[in-house]
Amino acid sequence: MASTTQRGILGRLLLRKSVEQVQRETETSQLKRTLGPWNLVFLGIGCIIGAGIFVRTGNAAALHAGPAVLLAFLVAGVVCALAGLCYAELSSTLPVSGSAYTYSYTTIGEFAAWVMGALLLLEYGLAASVVAVGWSGYVVSLLGDYGLRIPPELTGPMGHALIRDGAPVLDAAGNPVTTIFNLPAFLVCAALAILLVIGVSESAKVNNAIVAVKMTVIIAFILVCGWYAIDNYDVLKANWEPFVPPNEGEGRYGFDGIMRAASIVFFAYIGFEAVSTAGQEAKNPKKDMPFGIIGSLLVCTILYILVSIVMTMVVNYKMLNVPDPVAVAVDALGPSWAWFAKIIKIGAIIGLTSVVLVLMYGQTRIFYTMARDGLLPSVFAKVHPKFRTPWVNTMLVGLITAVAAAFFDINFLGDATSVGTLAAFAIVCIAVIWLRRTHPNLPRGFKVPLFPVLPILGVASCVYLISSVEMKVLVFFGWYVLGAIVLYFVYGMHNSRLAKGQEQLDVPEMPEFPEDAPGR
Ligand code: ALA
Repeated sequence: MASTTQRGILGRLLLRKSVEQVQRETETSQLKRTLGPWNLVFLGIGCIIGAGIFVRTGNAAALHAGPAVLLAFLVAGVVCALAGLCYAELSSTLPVSGSAYTYSYTTIGEFAAWVMGALLLLEYGLAASVVAVGWSGYVVSLLGDYGLRIPPELTGPMGHALIRDGAPVLDAAGNPVTTIFNLPAFLVCAALAILLVIGVSESAKVNNAIVAVKMTVIIAFILVCGWYAIDNYDVLKANWEPFVPPNEGEGRYGFDGIMRAASIVFFAYIGFEAVSTAGQEAKNPKKDMPFGIIGSLLVCTILYILVSIVMTMVVNYKMLNVPDPVAVAVDALGPSWAWFAKIIKIGAIIGLTSVVLVLMYGQTRIFYTMARDGLLPSVFAKVHPKFRTPWVNTMLVGLITAVAAAFFDINFLGDATSVGTLAAFAIVCIAVIWLRRTHPNLPRGFKVPLFPVLPILGVASCVYLISSVEMKVLVFFGWYVLGAIVLYFVYGMHNSRLAKGQEQLDVPEMPEFPEDAPGR
């Protein structure tokens, strides 16, 4: 039963679910243990590789780090590895399926879980919008290759001057074209929400196929561009000179620029923690979960560093602030490679579609769990009688992500996602320290080495990267968290089922995870 000891407001905020309760809640689905270590690595890669590498690398290199963007990937990878070790410890200690929301509820308490829920809306919901905008960039570019043109006003966020090839696009009267909203990004979010409502999601085989497409495209890109760069040493030398462009202030180049770029490309690693949600399906969770988390992070870090090296070698970093930087790099190889640029775009579109789907799916399941805990209205847990999916919740997630993708700039959305995720990772690192202090004797399948140094470094590095983000994003984030806290005191605190001594809301079972869940 819930630990309902009330010790004033602090005791209330720290109200925790017991490990036994969470286990009872997740036991009902009787998941099969089918995932081996490499399935988990593939699951991670399926969620990780997306708009971060295919889109945001360009902006990070062009405006902040120059060729040194590879160092930004290294820094972000190390920060994620620290958080990843903490996720691995929690997932092997609390054998429950669930996200950082559940971990927070069982360790630090309800208030931290609520804040985590709000942060995860940035990590999943907003990230889905970012990837949808990236998807739109590649679709517009591919359609353009075939002479199909979407009105340019409908391909970008509200009120932005449209830039192509580094210059403003002009209309027939010679005036700069201003975008109104991003129609393709809106449509892909809406379409995927409908698919999720009717229960179409990926099976393990589809996920493996999509991961194979993404990896093939990326490895082919590395080989082709790498070979070209070696063959054209002069181009390489000119583009890598200087490797770290001199600091221009405001996070443009130099050391500060590399750190700003690290907070941008951090987005590219989001998703590795999806592995920790598969705890109940892993054949040997204690060993395989850490392997899956760290393994997928390692594979992606190596690929990202290689991509950023060859990309900045074949094309000058200043040319990369575009919606489809990977394709622009291939274009630089010459017209005889146009076919390859098209293949890259098709591969990117397939990969990005699956990431939007997985992120939206994750968001609906977080809302669903919070509603079952009473922290959100029960309509979020309402399951469709025919499709057996949380349809109201899914439609709402579709609407939020579609509107954000349609009207906001990808850089703002991406930075807000990074900040929210970094804050969530910091809480996960704190949860590890907290649990070691409160439950030192709990059996732990995997322990973060060098405790408490690495979790503390994890918190510090997340906070440091948050501080490198643009001020307007930090202001948005501050107001967002404040709004979430107010909502807790107005709604969550009074409706929590745990506080009332009740178990999770009983709702009809949804289809079992192994068949149903995306990315599996
Ligand atoms: N890491 C994921 C991406 O880059 C969210 O799209």
